[in-house]
Amino acid sequence: MSKAAIGIFDSGIGGTSILKEIHALLPNEHCIYLADSKNAPYGSKSKDAILQLSIKNTELLLAKGCKIIVVACNTATTNAIDYLRENYAIPFIGIEPAIKPAALNTQTKAVGILATKGTLSSQLFHKTTDLYAHGIKVVEQVGEGIVPLIETGQLHSSEMTALLKIYLEPMLKHNIDYLVLGCTHYPYLIPMLSKMLPAHVKIIDSGLAVARQTKAVLSSYDLLNDFDVTARIQLFSNGDIEILKSILNDQFETSYLDF
Ligand code: DGL
Repeated sequence: MSKAAIGIFDSGIGGTSILKEIHALLPNEHCIYLADSKNAPYGSKSKDAILQLSIKNTELLLAKGCKIIVVACNTATTNAIDYLRENYAIPFIGIEPAIKPAALNTQTKAVGILATKGTLSSQLFHKTTDLYAHGIKVVEQVGEGIVPLIETGQLHSSEMTALLKIYLEPMLKHNIDYLVLGCTHYPYLIPMLSKMLPAHVKIIDSGLAVARQTKAVLSSYDLLNDFDVTARIQLFSNGDIEILKSILNDQFETSYLDF
């Protein structure tokens, strides 16, 4: 079983930011990635719709023999991971906005969070915020429109710059010193965001933490691939694979799959 692949899914190409972190930390591990671009964005869907899509992706990764599943999507994690853990026998790793480190380290006592509507309205997000952000101003912002632009190859567009300006404005008014990226599509915005934010504002995302957690859980289940192999990284998308390939600079094996 340790030779089986790590299964990873997202509503589209965003979770590749997590795939890259996992591959960098665990270069021996085979990975199978599902980009459910056909159904993106998940962020504006109902909890039940997100759950059904998460089940569909999970079943496909299980059919492909995966040993663990990384839900590389904040929206799917915050809305579906409890169900998945209760109903399937393999371990699941999720991703949540990194509110805790931001709240613990802020000097200005104000942090910004950019995430989808589905994540910001979830119970899990509210629980984490209540737990760690006492006395801290959390400026929440739904990143409406960002995912569709990325999914249609418009990452570096004037529309994107205009949206980001609007979304950052209230955060800057509250003098945030941390910006939490609560969606796996958003790390691709870091070069743009860094130019738009004052130098003292730190951007944090949870990608590396997820990769480390994946390693720890695989190790605890004795599922790490200790064999000296060249990892096979396969990506399947039910959307435009050219956009997926270009965001990955053709680094991995990418094919179209209707799922
Ligand atoms: N990349 C996803 C996330 O982390 C989902 C974005 C979406 O489909 O709305 O939330």
